[in-house]
Amino acid sequence: MSQNIAEQERGCIAPTYKRAPLLWEHGKEVYLYDSEGTEYLDMAAGIAVNALGYQHAEIEKVLALPGLIHTSNLYYTRPQLHLADHLCRGSFASKVFFCNSGTEANEGAIKFSRKHGGARRRDLIAFSDGFHGRTMGALACTANTRYREPFEPLIGGVHFATYNDLSSVSLNESVAAVVVEPIQGEGGVRPADREFLSGLRQLCDRHGALLIFDEVQCGLGRTGKLWAYQDYGIEPDLLTVAKPLGGGLPIGAILMNQRVANTIEFGDHGSTFGGGPLVTRVAGRVLEIISQPQFLAQVVAVGQLLGEALQRLVADFDLVLEARGRGLMWGLALQEKLPVARLVEAGYSQRLVMLSSGGNTLRLLPPLILQPEHVQQFEERVRLALQEVSLAVA
Ligand SMILES: Cc1ncc(COP(=O)(O)O)c(C=O)c1O
Repeated sequence: MSQNIAEQERGCIAPTYKRAPLLWEHGKEVYLYDSEGTEYLDMAAGIAVNALGYQHAEIEKVLALPGLIHTSNLYYTRPQLHLADHLCRGSFASKVFFCNSGTEANEGAIKFSRKHGGARRRDLIAFSDGFHGRTMGALACTANTRYREPFEPLIGGVHFATYNDLSSVSLNESVAAVVVEPIQGEGGVRPADREFLSGLRQLCDRHGALLIFDEVQCGLGRTGKLWAYQDYGIEPDLLTVAKPLGGGLPIGAILMNQRVANTIEFGDHGSTFGGGPLVTRVAGRVLEIISQPQFLAQVVAVGQLLGEALQRLVADFDLVLEARGRGLMWGLALQEKLPVARLVEAGYSQRLVMLSSGGNTLRLLPPLILQPEHVQQFEERVRLALQEVSLAVA
């Protein structure tokens, strides 16, 4: 990669991101191509965004259609209506609010839960290792002190309990909502136990609090079901979705049941760009494609192959402790002596794009169009990367 671009960036871009030394020029299906034309297998999908990979014919077709890019939420548009209708028909929800990102979706869900709760219910319960975004409300529900502390005071009234430990959750009549990821992403790819989520549902019902599922990372086909909650046999009151919905364009949505919607009035919330006609046209097509039973069945089948490949790594490499996940969302927990950043870096030299997450865990969030031959290619390359780092840390 040209050093020049890194230097130019230092002159004009705020240094919030530590970038890998890779300059992407284009992508095709599940592959990314760098400035030298080298092909990389993408097991990250822009952090769970590029669910349909790159240059998907159906998305390109929608993008090429004539139509409005933006109007405003002061007027009606058909694409927003069609997307909302499809989201409601395909989920527990009876109403949708559109915004532009995952953090905004969580911000709005917090506001709606406080509106529902009224003046006396202002508190929120969130969980250890949870991640909900970087704006003040979502950040207040995010456990990681490194993200929080430089920006305190955040919004008040947030209490943390231990993920997957129902006995740590204490609800009372001042709690507006419990916010939880059915599978924690940034926190190390940790699926919630069935008893934990159904226990939270019961506690919320008993105390009149709302249950918010943050499916920004684990939702919309990632687990092999359209929604991660559908594996648990319970429903939330609010659900937030973002990353994959817009086929790479920014969009977020808050799905809610009628009980929540009944408490919302004109002017309670808003967004200039939220649910604009271009992004909702694309999102409508993304949702149609991902919702197809045969598409989801393939995520399950290929996800199982990926899970089996990861279990073989656990068996073959001492440095690999455990594989966790579902569908096409997997984490590989590593021994402390192998920092995950090192494995991600070794992956680049094997033309493999992977992610790190909390708890020294390698995170895999490939495009949902991954095929069995890509799993084989991934396994061959990640083995080479693991051999390289194993020698280095021995
Ligand atoms: C579970 C979860 N919630 C919220 C967010 C924030 O989403 P965004 O970066 O679109 O604001 C993320 C981002 O990684 C996430 O994984």
